[in-house]
Amino acid sequence: MEITIHAVAPERRKDRPKDAELVFGKVFSDHMFLMDYETPQGWSNARIVPYGPLSLDPAAMVLHYGQGIFEGLKAYRGADGRIHLFRPLENMKRFNRSAQRMCMPEVDIHFHLQAIETLVRLDADWVPRSKGASLYIRPTMVASEPHLGVRPATEYLHYVITGPVGAYYPEGFNPVKIYVTDEYVRAVRGGVGEAKTMANYAASLQAQEVAKKKGYTQVLWLDAVERRYVEEVGTMNIFFRLKDELVTPPLSGSILPGVTRDSVIHLAQHWGLTVHERPITIDEVLDAIAMGTMKEIFGTGTAAVISPVGQVCYKDKTYRVGNGGVGEWSQRFYDELTGIQYGDKEDPFGWVH
Ligand code: COI
Repeated sequence: MEITIHAVAPERRKDRPKDAELVFGKVFSDHMFLMDYETPQGWSNARIVPYGPLSLDPAAMVLHYGQGIFEGLKAYRGADGRIHLFRPLENMKRFNRSAQRMCMPEVDIHFHLQAIETLVRLDADWVPRSKGASLYIRPTMVASEPHLGVRPATEYLHYVITGPVGAYYPEGFNPVKIYVTDEYVRAVRGGVGEAKTMANYAASLQAQEVAKKKGYTQVLWLDAVERRYVEEVGTMNIFFRLKDELVTPPLSGSILPGVTRDSVIHLAQHWGLTVHERPITIDEVLDAIAMGTMKEIFGTGTAAVISPVGQVCYKDKTYRVGNGGVGEWSQRFYDELTGIQYGDKEDPFGWVH
């Protein structure tokens, strides 16, 4: 399929914020990619147009029943000025798995990547030049058919927006304080937790607000059935450095299969570290903190890359992880991953595109 391009007139290009002023997800580049799906014809009308509001019918099914999915990946500018994507096909594949789970049409992963490349090339000036800043890319698909009966829609809109971002958390790469909720749950096996669908994020908001009111940055999610097993932290996967082994909960249906999660596991194995994907209970975590064998805890995600956890609060008791600072392994994973992403370090896995 051809992608038609209606570029913004030079005099209508927006001002770009300075890299030092960037926060996460507030500013958007000049263009966006869109294409339409209709049953039974399939995808058509691939286009890049000036960034702006969408026209959606108020009865569009996504606005009522939440049939919508998204992805998140970044473009990084290397020291030589070249622009890199990090494992983009992993995001495209996950987009299709989310689509399947939500009864939505899949997209051709190579065409999806081509659309993103074309969009990023057109808005190449928007890719920040400083380390720690990048261009966040947000592919999205929504059910656009106007219809109020509950069933999969027959019409969809796929679009991609981008915008320059700085650190996801105001703390930057500094330890965050997390609150373990045993009241709310994010997802349950058999539900939609392993899909990157909008509802999961809506479902997380109330617990996050409670945590915030109590002075914590994020929530630590336990499993929905027994409220014992650790699942995720905020919008991220979670890792523990227990003695000198890396432990992360297995992908058992309610956990999002993170690209950064997978990259950390590969790096750890490449370095000869022992990695266990196994269930871990909150009691095991807290006992290990008390005994001093829990050396580090960190979250992994595209937005923050690695987010060290300095403090955990469970049932109104607080526990300090390690010395409360950035752990040695957290720092090493952060340096290595960002080094590969920006092209400063060797890429033994061929992750950079
Ligand atoms: C991530 O990249 O860690 C996320 O999933 C956060 C995103 C929803 C803003």
